[in-house]
Amino acid sequence: MDDVRSCGKKLCISSSSSRRGIILTSLGLLSVVFFTLTGAAAAFNLATIPFDEGYSPLFGDGNLVRSPDGRAVRLLLNRFTGSGFISSSHYNHGFFSANIKLPSDYTAGICVAFYTSNGDVFEKSHDELDFEFLGNVEGKPWRFQTNLYGNGSTSRGREERYRLWFDPTKEFHRYSILWTPNIIIFYIDEVPIREVVRSEEMGGDFPTKPMSLYATIWDASSWATNGGKYKVNYKYAPFVAEFKDLVLEGCPVNPIQEVQTTVACAEKSAALEREDYATITPERRSAMRKFRQRYMYYSYCYDTLRYPVPPPECVIVPSEKRLFKETGRLKFGGSHRRQSRRRNRPIVTATTVSDDLSDM
Ligand SMILES: *[C@@H]1O[C@H](CO)[C@@H](O)[C@H](O)[C@H]1NC(C)=O
Repeated sequence: MDDVRSCGKKLCISSSSSRRGIILTSLGLLSVVFFTLTGAAAAFNLATIPFDEGYSPLFGDGNLVRSPDGRAVRLLLNRFTGSGFISSSHYNHGFFSANIKLPSDYTAGICVAFYTSNGDVFEKSHDELDFEFLGNVEGKPWRFQTNLYGNGSTSRGREERYRLWFDPTKEFHRYSILWTPNIIIFYIDEVPIREVVRSEEMGGDFPTKPMSLYATIWDASSWATNGGKYKVNYKYAPFVAEFKDLVLEGCPVNPIQEVQTTVACAEKSAALEREDYATITPERRSAMRKFRQRYMYYSYCYDTLRYPVPPPECVIVPSEKRLFKETGRLKFGGSHRRQSRRRNRPIVTATTVSDDLSDM
């Protein structure tokens, strides 16, 4: 379970730091209007499947609870175990998607991950695409990160970290990973939040081998770096992550027959690339730009201490780059809006806030 563990490890660091008090902006309504107006919200036309048609329990069986109609599943974390599920096949490219609602109230130390990986088959050369969510103390928002690895590129993390423009514990939102031979797009609802275009220079770092879809809930507190204060508090257990409207599009294959696979899946991959969600329309691109300028608070592409030369897939957006320090973290606090509002004033509070994010 290396993937899950690394998720916990990475995100626990952010948990312990975020408690020092991140000043939140009240974005809710404004943001909904904002994203709706962009036209990016026209829903995808998706075929959903029952749980047992595409997935199997992965661990913590007793904590995986199917809905009566079999089309939704709850993953529970209690003091005995977390839980998870996995797609029953590996897929050579695909669109992996679910409507997800995250646990509410006190969720510090909890990691919910929705990701693709083939680490079970390719231990030393695995591929992976991640959404990783980490809970928080009561009243503080969930945060999340996306990441990718290709052919075992675990020494080259490609993390981006963000806030959300809504409360993910209040209602379901759709989280999707599109992976084609040429492009990777992470979506939240119909807003693309991250795009990775394959280039020659990326070489094996762009995932190419068939992957399974995983969903897990996990106690990440044992990797916390900052004392025991922000461990999972089981007084609030069970913690429940809900998954429904499951979508699994792609070419199911045997992962160790790669060559055969590529040929057999060419048509399916081409079909994927013709889907609505494979095209970032100008409206979606505009929504993506706005999301990234308002809600992204760390990008490896702007972390020049870590990568003096940004990895080849990085698209350096000057207006975005201005917001980030050489550490890849925001210059001023946790909020881009705060920064612009206070541009001409002493940034006392924001300085404190930026410390909160220093190890995220
Ligand atoms: C993937 O990594 C292996 C070594 O683990 C290497 O032999 C192979 O050439 C790499 N493939 C690509 C496409 O870079």
